[in-house]
Amino acid sequence: MTAFTATAPGKAILFGEHAVVYGRPAIAVPVSQVQARVVVTAEPRRPSGEVRIVAPEIELEASHSELAVDHPLAKAVSLVVEMFGVERMPACSLRITSTIPLAAGLGSGAAVSVATIRALSAFLGHPLPDDRVCSLAYEVEKLHHGTPSGIDNSVVTYGKPVYFVRDRPIQVMNLPAPFTMVIGDTGIRSPTSLSVGDVRVRWQSEPEKYEAIFDRVGEISQSARQLIEGGSPMSVGSLMNENHALLTQMGVSCAELDRLVDAALQAGASGAKLSGSGRGGNMIALATPQDAELIARALERSGAVRTIVTQVRAIR
Ligand code: PMV
Repeated sequence: MTAFTATAPGKAILFGEHAVVYGRPAIAVPVSQVQARVVVTAEPRRPSGEVRIVAPEIELEASHSELAVDHPLAKAVSLVVEMFGVERMPACSLRITSTIPLAAGLGSGAAVSVATIRALSAFLGHPLPDDRVCSLAYEVEKLHHGTPSGIDNSVVTYGKPVYFVRDRPIQVMNLPAPFTMVIGDTGIRSPTSLSVGDVRVRWQSEPEKYEAIFDRVGEISQSARQLIEGGSPMSVGSLMNENHALLTQMGVSCAELDRLVDAALQAGASGAKLSGSGRGGNMIALATPQDAELIARALERSGAVRTIVTQVRAIR
């Protein structure tokens, strides 16, 4: 039986989360050790029009028509079906699996959307180009939180390190020297919508203070880009520390994230910060290849439920 499979990687935000929602630049990289995978299979024995969605990790098994229209999986399917003007879908099933932890700042929602859109469009005979995949995935991101910057769907679609400014074409980064990062998961799940919403409330009540914080975060992203593209990625450690302090001021860190950041620095990381929307989820630390495993063990001793050592490099 013909099956169409698509995958999409996880992602980590190196610099600029939250401020990116307010137009400041941010840097994000794909994390290929974790991924979402969608397999679309024709089901000729089922009634035509039936699209079955099976996602074991979230214990979901339902027909597309049974899901609420604003369910992210239903939305991803509907966007593709509507885009091609398909009146009656050939019966099929979508099996969605992912090794990206949910609600942990590693882009699980965006990766599932991207893989779903790719696999379904291929099943319908029209595999979509990346720019279309990216813009449809952005529509689904709006369901996760109302005001996404678009950074998650961009880095996950293109699978390359990006320098991202909202509403501008993505800029793929030049990475002359690869570098190593250790990712540590607090194990605390925190929906993006909550922290993004809280930052918005704070920004509305103290606009000057928050604009100044966002400005500084934007400068940090710019400086980090220069260092990374100039071949000195190991020099961005102090910028990561400063970015973490600014995220703390925004109110999106938590004791568990701070504990992992401190543990990474004590174990020799040259910089560390929370990554993603915060309040839990993951943090990242900059490491030499020699120290990475040591730092990963230190993170585990300080409560990380899982660690990933990843190489950040240019992908052609
Ligand atoms: O969904 P997360 O946790 O990967 O966070 C996305 C990054 C934010 O800047 C917090 C939100 C956004 O839309 O850019």
